[in-house]
Amino acid sequence: MMKKFPENFWWGAATSGTQSEGRFNKQHANVFDYWYEVEPEVFYNQVGPDTASNFYNSYVEDIALMKEINLNSVRTSIQWTRLIDDFETASLNEDGVNFYNNVIDEFIKQGITPVFNLHHFDLPAELYHKYGGWECKHVVELFAKFARLCFEVFGDRVKHWFTFNEPMVIVEGQYLYQFHYPKLVNGKKAVQVAYNLNLASAKAIKEFRDLKLNETGAKIGTILNLTPSYPASDKPEDVEAGRIADLWRNEMFLHAAVYGEFPPALVELLTKDKAIWESTEEELAILKENTIDTLGVNFYHPSRVKAPDVAPNSVGDWMPDRYYDNYDMPGRRMNLDKGWEIYPKALYDIALNIRDNYKNIEWFVSENGMGVSREERFLNKEGVIEDDYRIEFIQEHLEWLHKGIEEGSNCYGYHLWTPIDCWSWMNAYRNRYGFISNNIHTQVKTIKKSGLWIKEVSANNGFE
Ligand code: NOJ
Repeated sequence: MMKKFPENFWWGAATSGTQSEGRFNKQHANVFDYWYEVEPEVFYNQVGPDTASNFYNSYVEDIALMKEINLNSVRTSIQWTRLIDDFETASLNEDGVNFYNNVIDEFIKQGITPVFNLHHFDLPAELYHKYGGWECKHVVELFAKFARLCFEVFGDRVKHWFTFNEPMVIVEGQYLYQFHYPKLVNGKKAVQVAYNLNLASAKAIKEFRDLKLNETGAKIGTILNLTPSYPASDKPEDVEAGRIADLWRNEMFLHAAVYGEFPPALVELLTKDKAIWESTEEELAILKENTIDTLGVNFYHPSRVKAPDVAPNSVGDWMPDRYYDNYDMPGRRMNLDKGWEIYPKALYDIALNIRDNYKNIEWFVSENGMGVSREERFLNKEGVIEDDYRIEFIQEHLEWLHKGIEEGSNCYGYHLWTPIDCWSWMNAYRNRYGFISNNIHTQVKTIKKSGLWIKEVSANNGFE
C-alpha cells in the first residue's frame, strides 16, 4: 500500500549558516568561531567551523546536488555575523548581502523553496562580550533590527521565515549543561535567557507584521526541539517529573509561540521558587500580539524522566533538574553509535499534541535524523555509502507522521538534518547526518543511498 502525503508536501533537508558556509569573508566571529579561536581542543579532532562544508564557495554545485535528489525545499540560516557590519546600527555588509541574494536566487532557479531561519546558535561574539548576549534586553532589540533588515532585503523572494532554531538549546547549552560557550551553570540566567529568547522571537515577528509581509503570502514561525518526556513509571512522582520536564523543556517555548503567553503552571512554579524572569507589561503585550503563523519541530529522540533521587540543589541556585532526572530505560532501542534512543512513535505523539493542544497549527518536521560516525564503514565498491539504517530510520518516522496526518494533524513537510554532511558544534565532523556525503579533505560530495531513496519518495510524494 502506497503511503501518500498531502499535496505540495515539503520533502527537504536543513542546515545552518555556521555549519555549512565556512568563515570565508565573514566580518565578525560568532560565539562558535570565537570559541574555536580560544579553545580549539574542545572540538572533535580540533576541527572548527572555518571551512565547514564550504557552502560559501560551492553553493551552486551543492544546490544542484540537492535538486538532483528532488529536495523541493531547503532550510538554512542567515548569519548575523555575515550580513551585518555594525550590530548597533544594523548596517549591511555588501558581501553578505550578495552571498545570501545569490543563494536565494539559486534555490529559486532550481525550483527549491528557500526556507530561512534567523538565529541558529550564532550569536555575534562581540554581543556576548559586551552585553552578556541573550541575558541582555538590548541584544533582543539588536536582533529585532537584524530581523527587519533580513525581511526588507530578502522578503521579496523568501516566503518562509523562522526566527530561532532550538532556542532551548541556547538555554541548556550555555547556562545549564555546559555544551555551548561560555558553559555556565546558572539557573537564574537560564530562566531570564529563556524569557528573552521568547521576547526576541516575538519582536522579530512584530517587525515582520509591521512590514506587512503576511500580505505578500509570507509566513513566519519558530523552530523548536520538542522532546516528549515519557515518565519512567506511572507512579505519581514520576508522572509529576514528566509534567514539569515537559513544561520547562517543551511548553515554555511552544505555548509562548502559539498563545503569546507562558504556561500558567510554569509561571506559578517559577514564582513559587522565586526564580521567575524579569518582564514588563509592555513586553508581555508584544508577546501576546505576535504569535507564530507556522511551526517547525526538530525531533531526534524522546526524553525519559523519573523523579529525582535527591534534589540536586534544594539550596542555592534554581535548576530545573530539582524536579526530574533523565532515565535510562532498560531495553531502549538505541541508534548505531548507542548515542540516542530511537522512538519514532514520539513523532505521532507530537503530531497529536499539536492537533489537540496547540490550535492544530500548521507545522512541519524541520529536523529529524540519524548521526552516525565513521560512515566510510558502509562504502560500497562504487564509492556510495549504503546507509540503510538511515533509510529505515526515516521511513519509520514517516510512517508515524503519516498516521498523525491521517488523524488530522496539520503537517506540511519533512526535512532531514541535513542535505550534505556538515559541521556540528562540538562534535565537528564526528557524526554524519546527510543524504549526501562530504569528504572533508577534498570537499568531494557524493549522494548516499538514502539520497537516492528520498529522490523516489519525493517524486512519488510517498512510499510503499
Ligand atoms: C539540531 C541542531 O539544530 C543542528 O544544528 C544540529 O547540528 C543537529 N541538531 C544535529 O545534532
